[in-house]
Order: sequence, then structure tokens, then C-alpha cells
Amino acid sequence: MEKNIAIGICGSIAAYKVPSIIRTLQDSGWNVKIIMTKAATKFITPLTFETISKNQVYTDMFKKDVWEISHISLSDFAKIILVVPATANIIGKVACGIADDLLSSTIMAFSGKVIFAPAMNVRMWENPIVQENVKKLKNLGYVFVGPETGKLADGRTGTGRLADIKKIVDVVEKTFHS
Ligand SMILES: Cc1cc2nc3c(=O)[nH]c(=O)nc-3n(C[C@H](O)[C@H](O)[C@H](O)COP(=O)(O)O)c2cc1C
Repeated sequence: MEKNIAIGICGSIAAYKVPSIIRTLQDSGWNVKIIMTKAATKFITPLTFETISKNQVYTDMFKKDVWEISHISLSDFAKIILVVPATANIIGKVACGIADDLLSSTIMAFSGKVIFAPAMNVRMWENPIVQENVKKLKNLGYVFVGPETGKLADGRTGTGRLADIKKIVDVVEKTFHS
């Protein structure tokens, strides 16, 4: 089975860590395609990910450079979808069956394993709605790696830090071989 992975990047300050994750996955033989949410493009430019992934970066469900329906072609391509950093918003949308942008629509059209690596403020993470959504998704077979406890982007200490890069890559490999 080809090691094809679609990486969904969301609007979190932790997006700056994703290039290192891509490099590590590529070194282990993964073909990477990137989907960015609109919010993600506020944190880091698609150009960075185009250059690193050596592939077009997908940001818009309705843009057609070539004739393809992106959310379907991406869900056909991927053996695994990794959402990193996963926001409270994407977790909530997937848990509620909302498919209102390219990333959430691709996840909706995908029948393989989806891995979430959340990153957010501790109060967001501990919000009972987020916790309920995470529980629901875990019960449905979605995989979570992290978040970890430590210093957060806002200077506070708590749970909400993106999991260690090596840990995320290990979970991708383990999930692929399971
Ligand atoms: C500076 C800044 C940092 C943010 N960091 C996070 C974060 O780490 N985690 C999170 O869930 N939301 C964070 N947000 C809020 C999200 O960007 C917002 O909920 C957005 O709608 C998420 O959209 P998306 O899930 O489509 O990417 C942050 C917003 C700002 C302005």
C-alpha cells in the first residue's frame, strides 16, 4: 500500500511546527498532500507548504486549476489523514458532521483513519464541549495524539500543547500498519 498522507492544517499558532513534521514523514517515504483551512493561511503561507511538500496546496473547495473534485480526489489519494494542529473548531465540526470547507469535506468523504493532533489554549481544551466531542470521535475510531501538558503559546502552563513531532510521526506509522 502506498504511503500517501493528506495533512490538514488548521488555524493555530502551532502551525509553524508542521514543516518539520512533513520533512520527517517524507524521510520515512510518505507522499504528502496539504490541505489548509482559511484560518491556517493567516498563520503560515501556502507557499511554504508548496515548497516543502513539492505539491500543490489545497485551500479552496471551489477553485479548479484542473478538473477534479478536490475533496473526493484527496480522500481517494490518502491512506491516512493527519489533522495538525487540530483546532477546537475542526474537532467540533467533524464531531457534528459539518462539512463546510475543503478539510472538513475531505474528512467526511474519507473512509480510512483520521488522526487529530490538537493544539489549543488550556481552557479551550478543558471546555466540556471539546471534551465531549473528543470522546465522541474516539468512540467512532478517530485517533488522537496529544495534546501534551507544558508551556503554551499564550504563556500559560497547562494541557493544550501540540504533541511532540516524533510522537505524532510514530502514531502515523503505527496507525498505517495496524
Ligand atoms: C493568534 C491566534 C491563535 C490561535 N490559536 C488557536 C489554537 O492553538 N487552537 C485553536 O483551537 N484555535 C486557535 N485559534 C482560533 C482559531 O484560529 C479559530 O477558531 C478558527 O476559526 C479556526 O478555524 P479552522 O479550524 O478552520 O482552522 C487561534 C486564533 C488566533 C487569532
